[in-house]
Amino acid sequence: MIRVQGISKEYRSGRGQIQALTDVSFTIEKNNTVAVFGKSGSGKTTLLYCLGGLERPERGKITCFGVEIHSLSEKALCLFQRRNIGFVFQHGNLLSYLTVYENIAFSLALNNFDGKTIAKRVHELLEKVGLAETGPALPHELSGGEVQRVSVARAIAHSPQMLLADEPTASLDTDTGRDLVQLMFNMGREHGCTMIIATHDQEIINLADAFLPLRDGKIEKEDG
Ligand SMILES: Nc1ncnc2c1ncn2[C@@H]1O[C@H](COP(=O)(O)OP(=O)(O)OP(=O)(O)O)[C@@H](O)[C@H]1O
Ligand SMILES: [Mg+2]
Repeated sequence: MIRVQGISKEYRSGRGQIQALTDVSFTIEKNNTVAVFGKSGSGKTTLLYCLGGLERPERGKITCFGVEIHSLSEKALCLFQRRNIGFVFQHGNLLSYLTVYENIAFSLALNNFDGKTIAKRVHELLEKVGLAETGPALPHELSGGEVQRVSVARAIAHSPQMLLADEPTASLDTDTGRDLVQLMFNMGREHGCTMIIATHDQEIINLADAFLPLRDGKIEKEDG
């Protein structure tokens, strides 16, 4: 289970102080999929970053599968992320100087899988995402949809407990987006991932178990 209790996050930038999240609380049951939605600037990415430990909230608690990630040391947080979190970024964020194969193998290597297991697993994953032939390709040689499929394979390779996806279909056409959504849900369920997806995609919203509507950094109440 993931429990978020009263988190607030503010950014200080050239524009001054920006309150990105204010007193956000919710729980997510294990193996459920939650769709986070809200207008641009409502705090979706910030929330995913806090859940994934890429940002630290100033206030509040985040407990993921029994671990209070907001209070972990940098080192402990790195280890937790490496083992338990998969992240699909809006524009893929594959490492441009590594091949498709190496991008996926990387997260497995960090988790100390041996070479043989890594090779087997990467091939299986590439096959599953329909890109069996692209292992030697560099990310810039792929289409946007292909990059996203590799990103899903990479995020899920080490069977993380939590898969965070930030508008994974936003830059894809409807059909490609639908295929990616199917793939993500199938793989997420197969690997027993709890998924939190920031999205405006009706396809994802239809498939999700629960919803988290954000407005101006707060969870919107159903009665407005
Ligand atoms: N690194 C940062 N420094 C300063 N302000 C930031 C930073 N990241 C986000 N913000 C601000 O925090 C608020 C929430 O941003 P966030 O990226 O979480 O929104 P979002 O809902 O993901 O938007 P979008 O749909 O456009 O991706 C916005 O006002 C944004 O400008
Ligand atoms: Mg965003």
